Amino acid sequence: MEQAWELLNNFKDQQTICYKYDLDVKAGIIKIQRPKHLNALNKYVISDLEFILEKMEKDSRVRSIIITGEGEKAFVAGADIKEFQNFDYNEAYALSKEGKEKVFNKIEQLNKPVIAAINGYALGGGLELALSCHIRVASEKAQLGLPECTLGVLPGYGGTQRLPKIVGQGRAMEMILTGKMIDSLEAHRIGLINYSVPLEKLLIKCLEIAKSFIKTSPDSLLLAINSINNSFFDKGDKIESQNFAKLFKTQNFKEGVAAFLEKRKANYEPISISSQIREKNK
Ligand code: CAA
Repeated sequence: MEQAWELLNNFKDQQTICYKYDLDVKAGIIKIQRPKHLNALNKYVISDLEFILEKMEKDSRVRSIIITGEGEKAFVAGADIKEFQNFDYNEAYALSKEGKEKVFNKIEQLNKPVIAAINGYALGGGLELALSCHIRVASEKAQLGLPECTLGVLPGYGGTQRLPKIVGQGRAMEMILTGKMIDSLEAHRIGLINYSVPLEKLLIKCLEIAKSFIKTSPDSLLLAINSINNSFFDKGDKIESQNFAKLFKTQNFKEGVAAFLEKRKANYEPISISSQIREKNK
């Protein structure tokens, strides 16, 4: 029995999430809805996601969770560039670290499987959100990528740690260093997503997967997820947040973000942080 969407009402003027349940397959479905901003992740979305994930994690009726985005254009087009454009090192470090603690690492370590239903662009923090999920299903029209380096920053929500584990270091290097998007078929070919399906079948496919979890022991799933994740995160996670934040000190970051917001090509200067990069990450 599928229920109606409910709006999460944690922040008065900022309702960023709606959710519903499909109790036949015991799934909770979360939809990120900031379609005018291509569902970009701002602080309200992060807080709302943290809240709804905790609620569904504790709900014994829910055996798996599906996360998707509002509309046909975007799953999530990344962290909200307007929100972080003037951040300094400490604010950038907090954005990365807290986002991981509240949402990205939480999803990865959740006590039940989480499926990303990628309905359109999954870019930057949006692809990183999908990478933290246990299974990824994308619409045939979806475009996926980590364009952060084209903005003068780097993937700060776990992308540098998770992507190589999923597609291998060579492909992850190319995707991150070029910032290029790939389409759903290519993403399927390289193992980045589990399935590529027509948009109208996206939720159906995710619910079909959710249904197959009903036959399994929830304890087995919890410990299987834990076992697969084991040894996943160590120092690299912290180094990513530090390097993400270091970039906020550079002129090239300011130029990258300004160019995006002014809808023009970025004009980058030669490297400025080579000595800092050699600093030991503590
Ligand atoms: N943050 C804030 N706003 C965003 C956004 C983002 N990540 N992505 C899109 N938007 C906004 C646009 O600014 C635009 O707003 P206005 O109408 O007010 O100008 C609106 O959403 C629609 O976007 P476009 O007009 O750009 O739509 P398009 O069809 O021409 O292009 C797109 C679509 C290719 C996805 C393009 O929007 C784009 O490149 N978005 C940014 C993608 C990106 O760089 N993501 C990485 C963010 S950094 C990050 O995620 C850091 C991290 O790891 C923690």
